[in-house]
Amino acid sequence: MNQPSPHQRLFVALDTTDLERAVSLARALAGRVGGVKVGKEFFTAHGPGGVERVAGAGLPVFLDLKFHDIPNTVAGAVRAALPLKPFMINVHAAGGAAMMAAAAAVAKEAGAGRPLVLAVTVLTSLNEADLAAVGVGGPVDDQVLRLATLARDNGLDGVVCSAREVAALRQACGAGFRLVVPGIRPSWAAADDQKRVMTPAEAVAAGADYLVIGRPITGADDPAKAADAIAKEIEAA
Ligand code: C5P
Repeated sequence: MNQPSPHQRLFVALDTTDLERAVSLARALAGRVGGVKVGKEFFTAHGPGGVERVAGAGLPVFLDLKFHDIPNTVAGAVRAALPLKPFMINVHAAGGAAMMAAAAAVAKEAGAGRPLVLAVTVLTSLNEADLAAVGVGGPVDDQVLRLATLARDNGLDGVVCSAREVAALRQACGAGFRLVVPGIRPSWAAADDQKRVMTPAEAVAAGADYLVIGRPITGADDPAKAADAIAKEIEAA
């Protein structure tokens, strides 16, 4: 796998239901970042047509829909996403081995330009007590590692993980397994509601491949300039 350049590592979270704002941000960032992430909020409001409008700015798209269903349904959802030519899509690893294998198999049907299929392990909104309440015992980190390994063993390309999980997952899952990391804050940005943040340089040094960054870029007076500053920080490190 070729290493992405510092600016290619940045995926900007367009967390909005405002279609025109999403499109204008994508246009302003084209050529300055690796891509944009659109999630359930945007997709529920604007559907595939909205994704096509954003993609029209020329940036790769991370379609963050976190599929979780029976294997046949998830395979169908991944197949339905292929015409959008997303760069990355994701599923919940908790859907199990067969579900992840089905998602990976369908993505491979798209051939060379296929999307990377990532797994979400344990949502960072959940702690050990939350896991225990749904019948999963033991530390959160153990469950993250268990699900990341299951994802890798069933053909997935990587996981979305928190900055604090990066180093352990890089070691456990090997060099080619993509680690996509939100919760990133450059030293000059506000933490907002993120509790455990890492700087872009720290996350890349720990083994992150791609960084998902929202408000430090989308909330900046000049989003392109903020993206450039972050890419420079990564490069300097
Ligand atoms: O604005 P900010 O940089 O905090 O945005 C981070 C993005 O990454 C949001 O889209 C958020 O939903 C997503 N995310 C996260 N933490 C996770 C998983 C996803 O912040 N554990």
